[in-house]
Amino acid sequence: MISFQHVSKTFDGKVKAVDDVSFTVNPGEIVGFIGPNGSGKTTSMKMMTGILNPDEGSIQIGKYDIVKEPLKAKQEIGYISDNPDQFLRLTGLEYLNLMADIYGIAKEERGGRIERFAKEFGVYDVLHRQMAGYSHGMRQKMMVLGALVHEPEVWILDEPMTGLDPESAFVLKQMMREHADKGYSVLFSTHVLEVAEKLCDRVVIIRYGKKLFEGTLEELVSRYHNQSLEEIFLEMMNHEGI
Ligand SMILES: Nc1ncnc2c1ncn2[C@@H]1O[C@H](COP(=O)(O)OP(=O)(O)O)[C@@H](O)[C@H]1O
Ligand SMILES: [Mg+2]
Repeated sequence: MISFQHVSKTFDGKVKAVDDVSFTVNPGEIVGFIGPNGSGKTTSMKMMTGILNPDEGSIQIGKYDIVKEPLKAKQEIGYISDNPDQFLRLTGLEYLNLMADIYGIAKEERGGRIERFAKEFGVYDVLHRQMAGYSHGMRQKMMVLGALVHEPEVWILDEPMTGLDPESAFVLKQMMREHADKGYSVLFSTHVLEVAEKLCDRVVIIRYGKKLFEGTLEELVSRYHNQSLEEIFLEMMNHEGI
């Protein structure tokens, strides 16, 4: 589970990127973290993964506080950052082996997993090529595989569908569902509301670093008198408060 409690973060003493945000992702849940560009999603996720420190508040990953026990907390996390342009000098296979080494996955265990995931994502044939020569979508797929190869309990996926072809997006959504159904927690961000539809058990909506809503999509729709999700989202983004 992820527990994000009263977390704030200000950049350069002026931009309050995240402003007293609290929510939880329970075991067995997929939660969509939704907001327009610049609303604080990436900053929140970087604090959950220990890349940035919060100014205020506390963040718990499973049993561990990410600030107080970062190594233990990070062992529980599979993270896809918003930038797939990393480790480009490595081949896909070298990158996946690096990730498996970092998380201590035994050689016998990783081979089958890498092969299965790579085939499901249609990147098996390019595993021996340098990632610098990959398309954006192929790099994104490799980041997804790298994050998942150690079967972490908590998935934190920052805009994971961006650049994926429809088949791979479908596979990833299925993987997210299966992961949650094992009793693990999945948080993913998106600025595209339709991506959240059908997939999420609950959503957290933020704007200008402030949480506007946390709950199921059904609760959201009934609160807004059964307008379409698109209308609701636009209304929420255009009005002050809720
Ligand atoms: N390293 C940084 N330095 C200064 N401002 C930043 C930095 N990272 C993000 N911001 C600002 O924080 C706000 C939230 O950004 P971000 O978390 O990336 O939003 P999102 O992921 O929802 O698009 C934006 O106003 C952005 O310009
Ligand atoms: Mg972002």
